[in-house]
Amino acid sequence: MDVAPDLLKGIQSVDDVRLAADAGLDGIVVSNHGGRQVDGAVASLDVLASLGDEVGDLTVLFDSGVRSGSDVFTALALGADAVILGRPYDYGLALAGAEGVQAVVEHTLAELDLTMALTGHASVAEIHRGALAR
Ligand SMILES: Cc1cc2nc3c(=O)[nH]c(=O)nc-3n(C[C@H](O)[C@H](O)[C@H](O)COP(=O)(O)O)c2cc1C
Repeated sequence: MDVAPDLLKGIQSVDDVRLAADAGLDGIVVSNHGGRQVDGAVASLDVLASLGDEVGDLTVLFDSGVRSGSDVFTALALGADAVILGRPYDYGLALAGAEGVQAVVEHTLAELDLTMALTGHASVAEIHRGALAR
């Protein structure tokens, strides 16, 4: 029987990544819970960009502020394996139930598809940090 992977959510530093690795977890979620807990908290995207090789074999998920397909593209380019939609999912649910959630996901994927096409990326695997400029 498959066992659900163990992920540590709320990663905000390289030290947190080391804790997750030392604990033998499967992956991490770089997240400041949408910035709702600590006013002025570090931007999760900056944390993601700073992790580098420290993540090793850990699966890396990212959330906090993903609102569009280009946001997804940026997170993937900075090393995320996947992203999580928080409030957009809730907004879709509140407006139109399951269909609203589906619309949010489909629109986000369509925007990612468009961003990839316009930047010459045929697959998610091709998206790397070199696609970004400071
Ligand atoms: C109403 C609400 C409740 C949440 N409850 C939890 C929670 O119980 N545990 C948790 O890890 N994150 C919780 N979160 C944070 C989300 O899982 C997620 O990290 C955050 O909303 C992502 O950022 P985004 O909303 O900007 O996409 C909550 C978020 C919202 C909006």
